[in-house]
Amino acid sequence: MADVVSQAAPAKINLALHVTRRREDGYHDLESLIVFADIGDDLDAGLAECDSLTIGGPFAEGLGAGPTNLVMRAVAAFRERWPEVSPPGLKLHLVKNLPVASGIGGGSADAAAALRIMAELADEPVPVSDLLDLAAGLGADVPACLLSRPLVARGVGEILSPLPDFPSLHITLINPRVPVSTPDVFRRLRAHDNYPLPALPEPLTRPVQLGIWLNETRNDLQPPAIKLVPEIGIIVDELAETSGCMLSRMSGSGATVFGLFGSAGQAHDAASQMRKLHPDYWVGTAPLLGVEG
Ligand code: C5P
Repeated sequence: MADVVSQAAPAKINLALHVTRRREDGYHDLESLIVFADIGDDLDAGLAECDSLTIGGPFAEGLGAGPTNLVMRAVAAFRERWPEVSPPGLKLHLVKNLPVASGIGGGSADAAAALRIMAELADEPVPVSDLLDLAAGLGADVPACLLSRPLVARGVGEILSPLPDFPSLHITLINPRVPVSTPDVFRRLRAHDNYPLPALPEPLTRPVQLGIWLNETRNDLQPPAIKLVPEIGIIVDELAETSGCMLSRMSGSGATVFGLFGSAGQAHDAASQMRKLHPDYWVGTAPLLGVEG
């Protein structure tokens, strides 16, 4: 085995998110088209006597590295489920490149990366379906992050339909550096019984097909999030005006807003414009990951 293994924790983007029902347990059923971008946190692991976590990178500040961190919870959950095949202790290091509590995966993507590392270092392969079940117990977005490829998520996020094809696209991400609490946004939702996602075109290979489909969809969490953080609405409008922007919308429960572009050049130009307008915001740009993950 190599001394250190690494897993990327790519940013998760909800291109569309419809909330269809409020459940008895307080969670919400939703339908979401989720994609991943080639930008994110990085998790490294080396073998050690016992499990430990350190955190570095631009967004490390204020993040606890103790047992409640989702990375440590994922490792502990894997050990509990598969004690016989789990590797010995792991010395983990998380490079936090993405803003925290920002609607683009964050802790869920990090937890999924930790599960992938545990599975990679396990003495025997563990069944993917069992790993997805374990992921669902850690958070609604963790199963999708485990697959890190274009997919439709239903239920609270645990029922996944990976897409067989997806157009090649680029994304610009803008975050006003205001953390958003997901439960707060759900609490401010007015309607809980919105219509489901329309059927996706098959095959889905051309950007224009996706653009037409996206125009019939929304992020139902965007209006309540804008009430909490008005900057979100301003960014959505500004990004929509940039050259070649197919769609600008908030991801997840915010506050990160994405712009979707056909080329890397357009995505970079939009990013430069947004950096000029808001030098204090976090701005990232990357290609979307394809169906091979
Ligand atoms: O499971 P996760 O930690 O991602 O969810 C955070 C919170 O967001 C939940 O406690 C719940 O209040 C809300 N939520 C929800 N419906 C979902 C996902 C999350 O109400 N489908």
